[in-house]
Amino acid sequence: MIKACLFDLDGVIVDTAKYHYIAWRELANELGFEFTETDNERLKGVSRMTSLNILLEIGGVNLSDEEKLRLAEKKNENYRTFILKMQPDEILDGAKELLLELKDKGVKIALGSASKNAMTILDRLELTHLFEAIIDGTKVSKAKPDPEVFLKGAEALGVKPEECVVFEDAEAGVEAALAGQMRCVGIGSTDVLGKANLVIDGLHQMSYKKLMELN
Ligand code: BG6
Ligand code: MG
Repeated sequence: MIKACLFDLDGVIVDTAKYHYIAWRELANELGFEFTETDNERLKGVSRMTSLNILLEIGGVNLSDEEKLRLAEKKNENYRTFILKMQPDEILDGAKELLLELKDKGVKIALGSASKNAMTILDRLELTHLFEAIIDGTKVSKAKPDPEVFLKGAEALGVKPEECVVFEDAEAGVEAALAGQMRCVGIGSTDVLGKANLVIDGLHQMSYKKLMELN
């Protein structure tokens, strides 16, 4: 019996990848190499530090841990100038409608995101009040594909993992959901998210009725 939905944020509720891309590209250019949109695909769902390590690997750059921390912080400051200007009209098609419908039907809702900026983004989008629990990058120690973020979400909602459906756009996120014994709806392409129970283009293709069909 499905009682709760756990939503990833970046790529599911809002497209922040474009802002991450600009900020990472600027950093790469400062370090003297190119960073393409294809490269950026590798950073989806991945933590900030792991993203930086992938970027440095692409550029063939070796740095001390101290320097890495400084650059990750610098990238984040740049990224935050974009997200602080976000508006509710940037919510992806169908996301708010689905959250409202689920709430109306009594389905519990939590956020399960790797981002340490999740609260800022939800506030800017005026969505914070729709989540009963928010588990973000400040509350987890193990990154997806570890199920920690979703297990903590289920616990906070007072439901069992088997009663949860996760919505994810990253392969590591789908793996995290399945590792946590939850069902998963992939947002994106079946090539990448084929392990999910169902793959759709976006939340505009989901409804309470379709959710119950996953039971
Ligand atoms: C994930 C994004 O949701 O959050 C990743 O898909 C990002 O691209 C990660 O690196 C961490 O985000 P932040 O906001 O803490 O740097
Ligand atoms: Mg995501």
